[in-house]
Amino acid sequence: MENIMNSPAYKAAREKAQELLEKLTLTEKIGQLSQFGNSIYSSEEKKYEDHFREGKVGSFLTLRGAERTNKIQSNLLSIQRTPIPAIFADDVIHGYRTTFPTPIAQSCSWDPELTTRCDAAAAKEAYAGGLKWTFGPMVDIARDPRWGRIMEGFGEDTYLCSQFAAAAVKGFQGEGDAPGKDHLLACMKHYAAYGACVGGRDYNTADVSLETLHEVYLPPFKAGIDAGAATVMSAFNDVNGVPATANHYLLSDVLRSQFGFKGFVVSDAGAVGELIAHGFAADPKDAVLKAFGAGVDMLMAGDMFNDNIPSLLEEGKIAMEDIDRSVLSILTLKYLLGLFDEPYVDPDGENVFFCAEHLALAREAGAQCAVLLENNGILPLKNVKNIALTGPLTHPCGQAHLLGGWCGIADPSRTVTIEDGLRAAIPDANIDVIPGATFVHMSKEEIDAIAVRAAGSDVIIAVVGEENGMAGEAGSKADLNLCGSQEELVLALCATGKPVICLVSAGRPLVLSKFKDKVAALLNIWQPGTEAGNSVADLLTGRVDPSGHLTTSFPYTVGQVPIYYNHPSTGRPATGRWRFESKYMDCPIAPLYPFGYGMSYTSFEYSDISLSSDVMPADGELKVSLTVTNTGNYDGAAVVQLYVRDLVASRVRPVKELKGFKKLFLAKGASSRVELSLPAASLAFVNSDLEWVVEPGQFMLWVSEDSTDERYGFDFEVI
Ligand code: NOJ
Repeated sequence: MENIMNSPAYKAAREKAQELLEKLTLTEKIGQLSQFGNSIYSSEEKKYEDHFREGKVGSFLTLRGAERTNKIQSNLLSIQRTPIPAIFADDVIHGYRTTFPTPIAQSCSWDPELTTRCDAAAAKEAYAGGLKWTFGPMVDIARDPRWGRIMEGFGEDTYLCSQFAAAAVKGFQGEGDAPGKDHLLACMKHYAAYGACVGGRDYNTADVSLETLHEVYLPPFKAGIDAGAATVMSAFNDVNGVPATANHYLLSDVLRSQFGFKGFVVSDAGAVGELIAHGFAADPKDAVLKAFGAGVDMLMAGDMFNDNIPSLLEEGKIAMEDIDRSVLSILTLKYLLGLFDEPYVDPDGENVFFCAEHLALAREAGAQCAVLLENNGILPLKNVKNIALTGPLTHPCGQAHLLGGWCGIADPSRTVTIEDGLRAAIPDANIDVIPGATFVHMSKEEIDAIAVRAAGSDVIIAVVGEENGMAGEAGSKADLNLCGSQEELVLALCATGKPVICLVSAGRPLVLSKFKDKVAALLNIWQPGTEAGNSVADLLTGRVDPSGHLTTSFPYTVGQVPIYYNHPSTGRPATGRWRFESKYMDCPIAPLYPFGYGMSYTSFEYSDISLSSDVMPADGELKVSLTVTNTGNYDGAAVVQLYVRDLVASRVRPVKELKGFKKLFLAKGASSRVELSLPAASLAFVNSDLEWVVEPGQFMLWVSEDSTDERYGFDFEVI
């Protein structure tokens, strides 16, 4: 497939980069490998001027804004011996100024194209703000909701995450042969296995077999690279004892040789220096040798490369050709971006921030990503006159929290609150906004006071969950219940006898088991972004039918974690027949809500399901066709999911694996024929020799509404 990394424009950029490379001094070359943040200005006066003059700066992070970046760029270009524009980078994770739902939420749309659209809009705003490179997408598989960074990725499933990885790269970088105006270079992170941190504790060790590494954690990176991702970020964690940032096997053997990655690798912030704390490097010089020697091209952030590479070169520990290779890949991308022709951005471009088109997209996305977990029929709301609205996320501080983490450049004051969204959608209703709920401890009296007042309305809407800082980087948690006294609040509201619609806004799956059967409806809205209130009101009023489906298992209790649907088969599966089975004594083995689950106001029926054959050669393809009918009373979108199980193999296989899906919108009463293809190649797994193989034999296939739905199962054989 043609993408920016194999386009004719890339080839031309590389030739220009080669010419420039030959003119650079060693200092200038190493400068291209060095990124700096704000600290370059806040440290010694004039340090930056000397750095600029000597060509010791190749890139900046977290410096943004058209005016600011233009000024810094012009300052740099005017005093460098050899003018080379800097590339400005930042974390554009789910929007720049207009904030879209968090990536975990986006994955619940099961619509990768939605992510392409959100990331393209984010790229357009970020470009206007002077950026040319984003540190995203994060494609770490996360099976542990204690890990706060689960919010930045696309869930627990490798197949689904790979589709979203490619979609995000497309959105950020565009689909032309160069990431021109309005686009950014993408950065696949965190390479690798960062999501496998033991105990869900951020930055912690990842101990994964090579088979699991290749089969579960690496394919999303490969998918992004195949889509043309220009850069990769090395992770903080160690993988089986070798820090990812000094891991030659990962960065050189796999990434470059096996996956054919041609772009450059940036270390995560401070990760090179942290090799010392890991006990993997003795001092900064040793750390640089190990990171650069393993395949890190650019240092985030500071002078460690500038200070140490010259002596390592002199001592023969680093080769000039390796330095040249790194510099060449960075310069090539600078040419490809058109930075040498136009290093500045148009300050008037910033009028794209919060433009009507982006707000409409944010509203649509917010509604597509929410997952309806329970509904006794109260939703969609009909003729409701008196609504009580409470919970910590209804207060003005909710404006920030509804955006989610990693939205540093957003503007919380622009967030449409749940109250504003409801008032606009149901102007005739009386909405009693009850203050007093918090994320921390509330006394019984405080809770009772809220409940007594809420009881005066016909319907209670409680907006509970997490503050945005509770998830994201360093946002690990050991307790996944609602924090503070929120659970008591929800239970007290339920005890009033009035129907309670509980909206949960969080960066991770929370444990909802104590009240899920007591509420009238439970809607997991994640962190929907700038248009939060409008998206939610669209769903509550039925203007939009909920169509989100979970992409991570919601645990029954934190003790089940890590929990994921595609776990390997055990010799003692839980059947409930006797004691000696793989289960818990004190809680169910199943999650509270499984992967793929999500309710709708309407209903769908699958019929006339057929397989193109019940045998397929190891290089063949099966077609699975079915008719999907919207049999309910609302227009809505179905998410058809295709799972398989390899019944006997040379390595124990997962009980079930997603291998295809299709989201389709159907007006009420409408039907559509759907075809899903299942290439035999997608049945490949990593054998004990670390080779991808399709082993002949019997398979099961299910066409399902979620990962537990086994109504439509078929056998087929690979020959
Ligand atoms: C550290 C984070 O791990 C990474 O995801 C981010 O891109 C960098 N900081 C830069 O902000």
